Amino acid sequence: MARLLLRGFDIRKGYLNTAAQGQLIDDLRPILKAAPLFRPVTPSGKEMSVRMTSAGAVGWVTDRSGYRYQSRHPKGGAWPGIPEMILNIWRNLASTERDPDCCLINYYNEGARMGLHQDKDEADFSWPVLSISLGDDALFRIGNTTRGGKTESIWLNSGDVVLMGGPARLAFHGVDRIRHGTSKLLPKGGRINLTLRVAH
Ligand code: SIN
Ligand code: MN
Repeated sequence: MARLLLRGFDIRKGYLNTAAQGQLIDDLRPILKAAPLFRPVTPSGKEMSVRMTSAGAVGWVTDRSGYRYQSRHPKGGAWPGIPEMILNIWRNLASTERDPDCCLINYYNEGARMGLHQDKDEADFSWPVLSISLGDDALFRIGNTTRGGKTESIWLNSGDVVLMGGPARLAFHGVDRIRHGTSKLLPKGGRINLTLRVAH
């Protein structure tokens, strides 16, 4: 396992082996059944190219009313709990003091991307953000804490885990594209990114 520090982003290449990745996918299956992926709309009315859902006490959502955390799936049900295996990754890499209350699940199909943005809908930025990559390779772009300026990119592969804390907590980041079909982890291809956060 290689560890890479890029602008404060703490990147663990290959943190999860193939068996662990498969186990995570097995854990996610009932969650996706209970809280199906939906296509979010930005406050300006644009459909996002990723589909998403959440596990945890709260889930991150966006629609015409804005970006926020809420305790219910857009269809009305409570979010499923965060699987123990995912919580343990957080406890090992992020904090043993507090568990995350949100695990955002983003699904990138061929052509999906995520524009440069900051994670700033949380109440307390002293808690880090932990991101887990599963499935197809993704070109991850890292910017600055203000918009603009030089950026750097790195390919994230299945099993990589990224911790965004300290100076990187409010850095702009995004996914330019995925390399469809580079992983066999998901039966239909594509990429899942799990983002663990302390929202409230
Ligand atoms: C995000 O920043 O919300 C997702 C990052 C990723 O998909 O790697
Ligand atoms: Mn983000």
